[in-house]
Amino acid sequence: MKIIVLNGSPKGDTSVTMQYVHYVAKLNPGCEFKIYNISQQIRKIEKDQAYFDEILAQVRAADGVLWAFPLYILTVHAHYKRFIELLFERGAGEAFRDKYAATLSTSIHFFDHTAHNYMHAICDDLGMRFVDSFSPYMYDLTKLAGQEQTAGFGKRFLAAIEQQVPTQRQYAPLVRREFVYQPGLAQASVSTAGKRVVILHDGGRPGSNLATMVARCRDAFAGPVQVVDLNDVLIKASCQGCMRCGYNYHCAYEGKDGFIDFYRSTVMQADVLVYAGTLVDRQLSSRWKMVLDRAFFNTHTPVLTGKQMAFVLSGPFSQNANLREVLLGYTEFQGANVVGFASDEFGSSAEIDAVLDGLMAAVLRATLAADSHPQTFRGIGGMKVFRDDIWGPLRMVFQADHRAYRRLGFYRTFPQRDWNALLTNAIMIPLTHLAGFRKEFVRRTPQEMIRPLRKVVGKMPA
Ligand SMILES: Cc1cc2nc3c(=O)[nH]c(=O)nc-3n(C[C@H](O)[C@H](O)[C@H](O)COP(=O)(O)O)c2cc1C
Repeated sequence: MKIIVLNGSPKGDTSVTMQYVHYVAKLNPGCEFKIYNISQQIRKIEKDQAYFDEILAQVRAADGVLWAFPLYILTVHAHYKRFIELLFERGAGEAFRDKYAATLSTSIHFFDHTAHNYMHAICDDLGMRFVDSFSPYMYDLTKLAGQEQTAGFGKRFLAAIEQQVPTQRQYAPLVRREFVYQPGLAQASVSTAGKRVVILHDGGRPGSNLATMVARCRDAFAGPVQVVDLNDVLIKASCQGCMRCGYNYHCAYEGKDGFIDFYRSTVMQADVLVYAGTLVDRQLSSRWKMVLDRAFFNTHTPVLTGKQMAFVLSGPFSQNANLREVLLGYTEFQGANVVGFASDEFGSSAEIDAVLDGLMAAVLRATLAADSHPQTFRGIGGMKVFRDDIWGPLRMVFQADHRAYRRLGFYRTFPQRDWNALLTNAIMIPLTHLAGFRKEFVRRTPQEMIRPLRKVVGKMPA
């Protein structure tokens, strides 16, 4: 049996993820595992058609494809994304059709599920037979349970191929509407009120829906708006995963290209951020992903705190719940407030005009009122994942995060120092071991749960 491994790590062979692949390969010596370093070699893959064709030929000749990748900013590395784009751009999907597929990632479990959802959907779009996804923590393989799980994953994948198990598509194909957005006359009615408004977009042909939507957003404002086409930012390379930034936020490319200056002086200084992009397959473009990956020079420290954001998207956004999850997960962890989303998926041009104008007005209003939503599980759960790792195993590498987490008070609730709760627990828990007390405790719990809230509401004037 032959498995093609598509390695998504920019570090190539020096990859944590590849150790899991080697582990599975060693347990199955009868099976050939051929690895292609996709993310590391993307320039060659893009420029050298013969090399691209060689990969496709190997996929065609294989019994299965293992998509093995590290998590990069809630999904896959920009270069892996670019490879997927190339498959569709060059009509190369046929090489993957009916091949058995599985996904294997390593990560610290920060939105690993969204990366796997994306890759599973891509496998479905390529007509592959998806078997399983496997997402261990980076170092699970050092523990017996992790070794057993990894062995089990490999066994299940190879057995599925051997037995030709039936599989079923899990993600519906995307339906794109043919629609040309033709805006009416803009009113320029939203005063920027001295706030710094920045619109980032990934280009789009002149006259494309994205370009027109971006122009509409800009024209909604009376006052200066900075519009940046991300293709104009000098970015020499994608994030290499070297983690030099971990010590003091200093990127290995600092001074060698324009990205860090751009990000610090434009994105990090904005009051309002509008991110606009065209959906390419099921995510934003690989250019956008390159920007998000390179912004990792701030490592796990939120740098968009208090900013008001809006997303303007061209394409079938409502059919991509996973993309919404990625965008909200990213912004919540960054401490930004997302005011809303707009797309060209539904409605007439006049209706889209109204939605875009309304969104720009709302985002400015939110800035002036310092409005925000409470964080959800995405931001709160995500930050706890980071906090535990920065406190512990990752502190040595990400020392800048550790200093920032101390400064920002992220450790204040960790370990818990809620003396009130600790004291109440110390008294109440032994008492609840008495059956009579417990009965009364359970009876009163619903009322007690709302007591502090009723106090607040009760204090309000009628
Ligand atoms: C730029 C960058 C972004 C990352 N983003 C995530 C993430 O969103 N979620 C996560 O759990 N881990 C994230 N990680 C951690 C890596 O996924 C993890 O270290 C992985 O094991 C690296 O695998 P590799 O050595 O095969 O590249 C990120 C690491 C880097 C360098």
